[in-house]
Amino acid sequence: MASESTSIPSVAAPLVVGLAGFGTIGSGLARLVAENNDMIRRRVGRDIVIKRVLVRDMHKARAVALPDTAQLTINATDLTDDPEIDALVELIGGIDNARALIERALERGKHIVTANKALLAEEGTALFLKAAQTGRILRYEASVAGAIPIVQTLKESLNGNRIATLMGILNGTSNYILSEMAANSLDFEVALRQAQELGYAEADPTLDIDGHDAAHKLILLIRLAYGVHYPYVALPIRGIRGISYKDIVLAKEFGCTIKLIAQVRECTDESRGRGGVPCLEAGVFPALVRDSYLLAAVSGVYNAVRIEADAAGLLFFHGRGAGALPTAGAVLSDLLAVARNERQNNTGFSDTELPQAGIVPPREWRSCCYARLTVRDRPGVLRDIAGCMAADGISVARMQQKSDDGRGLVPLVFMTHETSAGAMDNVLRRMEDANLLSEPAVCYRVL
Ligand code: NAP
Ligand code: HSE
Repeated sequence: MASESTSIPSVAAPLVVGLAGFGTIGSGLARLVAENNDMIRRRVGRDIVIKRVLVRDMHKARAVALPDTAQLTINATDLTDDPEIDALVELIGGIDNARALIERALERGKHIVTANKALLAEEGTALFLKAAQTGRILRYEASVAGAIPIVQTLKESLNGNRIATLMGILNGTSNYILSEMAANSLDFEVALRQAQELGYAEADPTLDIDGHDAAHKLILLIRLAYGVHYPYVALPIRGIRGISYKDIVLAKEFGCTIKLIAQVRECTDESRGRGGVPCLEAGVFPALVRDSYLLAAVSGVYNAVRIEADAAGLLFFHGRGAGALPTAGAVLSDLLAVARNERQNNTGFSDTELPQAGIVPPREWRSCCYARLTVRDRPGVLRDIAGCMAADGISVARMQQKSDDGRGLVPLVFMTHETSAGAMDNVLRRMEDANLLSEPAVCYRVL
């Protein structure tokens, strides 16, 4: 009996793609396009053909074979200026070269798919404007939280909701490092090296560990959730560098896990409103997350986004935040939308240029706080510390005194009731000025 072919005929002309970047994500995309060819044809009725692949080094050994249809090049114009290419996928990373590439491609009528959160956070206003002026699609699902489909969710599925709070673990590398330090007592540097080997880290890993990558993603989520431009330079950012194993263990004793958190909350104080433009409390910071929160259990390379919305209530999204295939899957979903010619508004809002967000000054943020103070073990030290707390109106919820470290120094560990970041800064400065602290204080918010 003759065997029946199960492949589905393609009916429309293929979507011809110029792929810029053949590193972790670019090669992952090439692999998925090849492996999922039949599924792609069934979904969009056409093939995706990668015609050109842009790299820096033509002679580099590649772990993934180039698609049969593709030619390697080091000339960006081979992609941007080829009239046969319909869409450019930008996966080279960085700002200047990526921006030039995308702008030129838009000017020549190409649609764009990118995973470049740094570029969209820092230069997004100009690029979204250019895409609107040229009438092209600019999609970026892979730029936030890897495999979690949060960009389209905010742009489409939740667009009938007002978002009260969005809180997330948005950097896979940092979460991997913190999880490995906590679970396997791994050194920070060793865990970072592993994250790099697994393809999670940025080409410049300081973007991950100093909180900038999470901050870039938060800027994108703010734009999608509130329809405002939040200037990157105005965002308070603190990363995980310097988090010690000691604090990871002490946090556990308080029933918490240390996580790098990206958070935005809309301020409900009406006196801050500016003609309906949301006023936001936003930032990236390490925090002690209570173990009763789902976020505390998000480990390894996983990311999560927790949203409180007026109609939907509480939502929680969880998935792999980095790595070749999880991220490439998100890039491919954008390419399928381009193949279907889905022309939604790229930002999710109808304004061509979005207004600037109102900003709540960081000193006014309120939360409970964790503070680890190293003091000389002498009579009255606790009274002096408590006196400083009282002077700044800070009320202590829990306190632990650890044993002398052998040098006559003792750690005092506090959990405060809710207070402002400004009051916490003041009290730590007051203690320093009174020479009460033998080492710099360690202080984190508690969520
Ligand atoms: P990568 O592994 O470092 O790959 C970068 C690729 O771009 C390489 O093929 C490189 O060429 C090429 N390239 C870099 N600069 C170039 C230039 N100026 N001209 C031409 N080619 C250039 O990076 P990646 O991890 O795939 O990340 C790519 C993008 O995806 C970045 O924006 C990143 O932030 C984003 N992203 C990454 C992940 C992840 O898990 N890795 C997840 C989400 C988003 P050579 O191969 O010749 O060096
Ligand atoms: N370096 C990023 C991370 C890649 O670790 O989350 C995913 O955006």
